Amino acid sequence: MNHPVLIAAELRNLLDAARLEGLDVTWIAADEATPKGDWIALVPLLSRWVGGTELKNLPKLKIVANVAVGYNNVDLVAAELRRVMVTNTPDVLTDATADLTWALILACARRLLAGVELVKSGHWTGWHPEQLLGLELRGRTLGLLGAGRIGQAVGRRALAFGMTIRYTARTPKPEFEAETGAVRVELRRLFGEADVLSLHVPAVPELQGVVNAENLGRMKPEAILVNTSRGDLVQEDALAEALEAGRLGAAGLDVYAEEPSIQPRLLAAPRTVLLPHIGSATRDTRRAMAELALANVQAVLAGKAPLTPVYR
Ligand code: GLV
Repeated sequence: MNHPVLIAAELRNLLDAARLEGLDVTWIAADEATPKGDWIALVPLLSRWVGGTELKNLPKLKIVANVAVGYNNVDLVAAELRRVMVTNTPDVLTDATADLTWALILACARRLLAGVELVKSGHWTGWHPEQLLGLELRGRTLGLLGAGRIGQAVGRRALAFGMTIRYTARTPKPEFEAETGAVRVELRRLFGEADVLSLHVPAVPELQGVVNAENLGRMKPEAILVNTSRGDLVQEDALAEALEAGRLGAAGLDVYAEEPSIQPRLLAAPRTVLLPHIGSATRDTRRAMAELALANVQAVLAGKAPLTPVYR
């Protein structure tokens, strides 16, 4: 008998038939509520909240295979209480996300959007030695708030741009330090010394709103803030205010606290590059994420250990 599973409908085109073998799939669109029933696996997008109620409504569930490396959309405590396994999709999206982080860093540093707007407006009057001057990256400091897989991948790319690296992390990363010369510092120093500050931590409760008025106040007025992690890490009002007041050079954001809505004040703030949560959006990576989620489901249904379990 085929196993009944619930899978996000938006993944349909990314999954080969072989991955769905032995499964009786109910496709569920992002705007549909999570149903009640006897499904034994759920493969949600990161926009679907999977909490106590949802898990209660799925009493036979064995696994939530989240299609994201982040898993703040899943109540891990509730899942553990119900003995439901939770998996994510690490590694396969590291390079794509690090690349997009650099796209934001470069776009902010070199005022890419202002340049595009100038050309498109038809008002460009020609080369001028002081036009759209940006931030030279060579010799400057990249601050990594978090140096896990993605943070480290962003750091390794910084070497090619001649930047020095500072990072915060719960534990030192000796191999990363040996490879890149990165130095582990306290949070305050990170905010104070970074010319580019990039966020690469999960949105755990103790880090929510860590980019607040106080820490923004420690940043250099020309510094660039980049966030390809989770929107909850940033107090968006405080960020908008710093940009409005000219106390921060620029902000490149791919994620927001209340996706898909974006605070009007942030939308209107100057010197931003705002993207629609596309950190992992390459064809190869999105396919690999969907496949890894399904491989986790297939493993658990076969009575094996999941490939990439999330531990609390
Ligand atoms: C995307 O945001 C992810 O967590 O994979």
